[in-house]
This record gives sequence, structure tokens and C-alpha cells, in this order.
Amino acid sequence: MSSKIDLAASIRAIMDYPKPGIVFRDITTLLGDAVAFRQAVDELVAPYQGLGIDKIAGIEARGFILGGALAHQLSAGFVPIRKKGKLPHDTVRIAYSLEYGIDEMEMHVDAVKPGEKVILTDDLIATGGTAEGAVKLLRQQGAEVVSACFVIDLPDIGGRKKLEALGVQVRTLVE
Ligand code: PRP
Ligand code: ADE
Repeated sequence: MSSKIDLAASIRAIMDYPKPGIVFRDITTLLGDAVAFRQAVDELVAPYQGLGIDKIAGIEARGFILGGALAHQLSAGFVPIRKKGKLPHDTVRIAYSLEYGIDEMEMHVDAVKPGEKVILTDDLIATGGTAEGAVKLLRQQGAEVVSACFVIDLPDIGGRKKLEALGVQVRTLVE
């Protein structure tokens, strides 16, 4: 039987990136560690097995890496939610704010069908502004956002509470 490793130990902290005062939680070190990456994906998908999830929506950029792996494990489709101007077909767009800035995100208009069960994923939730924007886009197109999952939660910043206030179940692996 294999024992679990401490995922937090595989995440690197970078001071003052991308702006002074921000401690950036860098998951590239976790992704580059075969054992840690596999464990993170396994822990994220486990509660969703058998729920009939139709799609995983991943937020650019690191949510794409996790989302692809989750979609494969759950035999679900993958929906990219991207920064504005990157998607080629007709899109729906929303402005959002995050820990260190503001931006706009887009999703293809036909990326989800009404009633589809979707899990949202990203590497990290801080203010929750990014995830909130994604939930709004998905719901606007009629999807049922069953849950949102992240490797890292920064609980002092309050993003989990923001999503839960929208009625979204939130799951995270590391604080
Ligand atoms: C990071 C992270 C989340 C978001 C979380 O992405 O991957 O998407 O910030 O912040 P919030 O909870 O305060 O909204 P970033 O905007 O840096 O984009 P990137 O993945 O393209 O670098
Ligand atoms: N996105 C928002 N805040 C972040 C942080 N502190 N580290 C990594 N990504 C982030």
C-alpha cells in the first residue's frame, strides 16, 4: 500500500510575484513531481466518481493542466475558460477581479448545454473573483455547477466563502 505525501511540501512560494506584497504559490513544482501530481489528481476526482459529470471547466492557465487530467479520469469533456481574445468561436464574456488585478474571461457560447453537470477547476482560489466569474459564465449558459475544486485555498482571502455564498460546493486539498 502506498502512503500519501504532503502536497503542501511540493508547492513553491515566490515572494513579491507578480507584484510586491504577493506570495505567489507556484504549483509547477507539484506538477513536475510525478507522485505529487498523480496524488493531487486522484484526490480531486475521487468524490466525483459515479456522479455523471458531463464536463470539467478549467480556468486558464493552470486550470487547464488539472482539468485535462480530471476530465480523463471522469470520462468527461473539457471546457476551457480563457482570458479574453483567445477563443476562436463566438463567446460569452465577463469581467472579474483577482488578488492582483482585473481582467475579462471568455467561454465559447456552445461549450456547455443546458442542464449539463459541470465541475469547475483551477490550481488556486484566493479572492474567488476568477472562479466567481467562471461560475457565472457557466450558469448563464445553463450548466449546473456541481462543485468547484482547487489544489490550494488561501483561506484568509475569503474566496471559498464567496463561492459558497453563490451556492457552489468548494473542495480544496491544501491551505
Ligand atoms: C491565478 C490562479 C487563479 C486565480 C485565483 O491565475 O491560477 O486562476 O489567479 O485568484 P482569485 O481567487 O483572487 O481570483 P492568474 O490570473 O494569475 O492567471 P494565469 O493562470 O494565467 O497565470
Ligand atoms: N492567484 C491569486 N493569488 C495567487 C497567489 N498568491 N499565488 C498563486 N496564484 C494566485
